[in-house]
Parts: sequence; C-alpha cells; structure tokens
Amino acid sequence: MSCRWHSYSTTTELEAATVQTILQAARSAISQRGGFHIVLAGGNTPRKVYESLRSADTDWSSWHVYFGDERCLPPDHAGRNSRMAAQAWLDHVAIPRAQIHPIPAEKGAETAAADYTQALKGIGQFDLVLLGLGEDGHTASLFPHHDPGDMPDAPAAMAVHDAPKPPPDRVSLSAFRLGAARQVMFLVTGESKRQAVQDWRNGMDIPAAAIRPAGGVDIYLEAGLLESAGKT
Ligand code: 6PG
Repeated sequence: MSCRWHSYSTTTELEAATVQTILQAARSAISQRGGFHIVLAGGNTPRKVYESLRSADTDWSSWHVYFGDERCLPPDHAGRNSRMAAQAWLDHVAIPRAQIHPIPAEKGAETAAADYTQALKGIGQFDLVLLGLGEDGHTASLFPHHDPGDMPDAPAAMAVHDAPKPPPDRVSLSAFRLGAARQVMFLVTGESKRQAVQDWRNGMDIPAAAIRPAGGVDIYLEAGLLESAGKT
C-alpha cells in the first residue's frame, strides 16, 4: 500500500489544494456514477476547507455526506464534528438534508455505532475519505492501543471508550470501512503532529497506518513536518 506525501509551504496552499482535490473527485464521481459519497474528517484542521467549499460551483444535489467519527455529545454541542461541518459548510449549501448522515452519537456509543453500521449497509466504496492525524498517530477515533478494526470482519462503525482525546466516548468508522474508498486523503498541519508524521514515515504501527485502501493514501501536509524532530 503506498503513502503519497504531498507537502505545501503554507496551510493556505494546502487548504486550496485540498479544496481542488475534493471538487475534482466530486466532478469525476458525479459524471461517472451520478453521485459523490464523501466522508468528512473531524477536528479543527479541515475547518477552512469546509468554509471554502461553501462557494464551490458543483451540483450539491449529487453529494452524499458521511462522517468518519463523532464524539458522544448532544447534537448541538460545540464539540460535535457534525456541528462544526454544519456551521462551516453544510448549512450553507443545497445538499438535500436526507443526504447528510451524521453519526447519532448522542444515543451513546454502542447504539450509535450499531445504527451507523446499519445506515452504511448498501453504501459501497466511498468516493473520498478525508481524515486528520492526531499527535499520537490517531485518526478518526481510532486511538493507539485500541482495536482499529482493520480486518474485513470489523463492523463499519465501532463504539470507542476511554479515548485519550476528550470526550472519552466516541464512535468511529473502522479502519477497514474507511479504507473501502476510491481515494483517502489525510490533512496534517501544526507542529504538534511532527512526531506522528515521523513515526508514520518510519513504518511504525500508528492507527493512521491501519487504513489501507487498494489505491493507497494521499497525505497533504505542511512541508516543515517532513523534517526530523529536533531539526529546524
Ligand atoms: C476527532 C477527530 C480526530 C482529528 C485529529 C486531528 O473527532 O477528534 O476526527 O481524529 O481529526 O485529532 O484533530 P485536529 O484537526 O483538531 O488537529
């Protein structure tokens, strides 16, 4: 499985390239298959990308939006990934509401994971999966020392407890389901991610490396993060 590293000198360039990649994937999916199925990343890194997408010229009625993970908090809580995406982007565009699929994490991790696994039945490969990277190498809500669900028998969505990043209760798509995608891209910015990037490049078994789509993954990162820890 190949990891393609794409480095940008500024976050602005990285964000612009990400927007272009998303819109290109949407164009190609809509023209070839009539719909675009995208999985959104949580965390803060994608916020500007989401804001830029508000003004995109695309056929929003063909977009289908899913989430890679969610935190077990009320739907309108500021920490919800679905709320961030709604405020930054989804509330401002004409994607039919029935085609936006938040993870119902307010029901508790087990029930929400079972419901989302059910909701994803019949959805084939995603067209594009967006992911972030945590300081400890986590991605979505797949954390070190937890089962990443990277085997074919893993459920599509898994309950997560004792997450080291708050809140402790979460729901995550399994690594196997996240890898069932035509394109997977990671967005990585910020000095705090340096060690995780280095570990990944050194072949360490971090959770992000458990996502192994057939076509490999694309990692968009700030150029400085490619240098070893300790160097400037
Ligand atoms: C979450 C995430 C998580 C996130 C990374 C990076 O819900 O917390 O989906 O995997 O993407 O922790 O977070 P930042 O983008 O905020 O650095």
